[in-house]
Amino acid sequence: MYQLRGVTKQYRRAKDTVEALAGIDLTIGDGDRLVIQGPTGGGKSTLLQMLGGLDRPTAGSVELDGTDLAKLPEARLTKVRAESIGFVFQSFNLIPTLNAQENVETALVPLGLKVADRRERAAEALKSVGLGERL
Ligand SMILES: Nc1ncnc2c1ncn2[C@@H]1O[C@H](COP(=O)(O)OP(=O)(O)OP(=O)(O)O)[C@@H](O)[C@H]1O
Ligand SMILES: [Mg+2]
Repeated sequence: MYQLRGVTKQYRRAKDTVEALAGIDLTIGDGDRLVIQGPTGGGKSTLLQMLGGLDRPTAGSVELDGTDLAKLPEARLTKVRAESIGFVFQSFNLIPTLNAQENVETALVPLGLKVADRRERAAEALKSVGLGERL
């Protein structure tokens, strides 16, 4: 469950400050499905970056199951992203020098799995979405 309180994000460029999020309070329960809708530049991507632990708010708290992502040290945040958060990006974000299996495996590297386990899980994941022939 997510609990956001007073989430504010300001981007500063030289003397300009853009307030992308201004005091967002939001609760997202387990199993909830949420659509974020709004005009371009309205802060949707910024909010997703806060939820995903990809960036930190300027002020406020982003609690995921009671842990404030805004305050977590980078190494712990990396662990949360690896273990608790899934991302489906609009663009593929594939690494062109890696093959399909290696691309999937990169997401498992922060989990510290043995190479053989990593390989097996990546292969299973690809097969499960009908991409077994790409292995
Ligand atoms: N890295 C950045 N540096 C400076 N300003 C930024 C940065 N990222 C976003 N902004 C600004 O913050 C505001 C919110 O942007 P954001 O990308 O979150 O909007 P959005 O709702 O996702 O828009 P879109 O519908 O176009 O994807 C905009 O004014 C944008 O220009
Ligand atoms: Mg966006």
